[in-house]
Amino acid sequence: MVEEIFSSPKKRGRIAVFLSGRGSNFRAILEAADAGKINASIALVFSNVEAAPGLLFARERGLESLYLNPKLFASREEYDKEAVRQVRKRDVDLVCLAGYMRILTPYFCREFKNRSMNIHPALLPSFPGLHVQQKAIDWGVRYSGATVHFVAEEVDMGPIIIQAAVPVLQDDIEDTLAARILVEEHKIYPEAVRLYFEGRLDVRGRRVFIRET
Ligand code: GRF
Repeated sequence: MVEEIFSSPKKRGRIAVFLSGRGSNFRAILEAADAGKINASIALVFSNVEAAPGLLFARERGLESLYLNPKLFASREEYDKEAVRQVRKRDVDLVCLAGYMRILTPYFCREFKNRSMNIHPALLPSFPGLHVQQKAIDWGVRYSGATVHFVAEEVDMGPIIIQAAVPVLQDDIEDTLAARILVEEHKIYPEAVRLYFEGRLDVRGRRVFIRET
């Protein structure tokens, strides 16, 4: 049974990107949207880091951007409530976490269940968390990669939409493996967002089914 069928393929969607740093995945999604590959536009770039290069880039490009200072909120939940309010205000269909280095509260995850995605630089469920390229090298795996998944309350554990594998080479260090994975991230994240706005992603339990056109 199909639990949810997502956004109508016809309507042009609205995306909020959440980031805390460089923002290269954000730029990959933006490029795909600008090129007409994704039937959506970026309605908001949100950050918990005032000087995040991705946020500054969004501003330079004239996109709506918002920084919320975590120190001004009494709790993580209060912070996320305001973030949700800001996203809702802009009539956003999909939240894309792109290097957003803050753990979302269950409140946020519930509000955007199956309407928020994350990209992770490993083949989940292996290596959730941080510094995962180094962990993959240290473990001795032959392949690592990238995963785009829907956000769930358990960090990095939501239903998987797309994965891409890359080899781990014997002379890899964290940076070289991260760079190889990043190339794939920039392909699969826009692709997952495209599928979403084509209304082709069905979630059944843990599994995501991609409908043929
Ligand atoms: C990426 O490796 C992503 O997988 C992880 O954080 C990094 C963000 O990079 N979640 P960027 O800010 O998109 O360049």
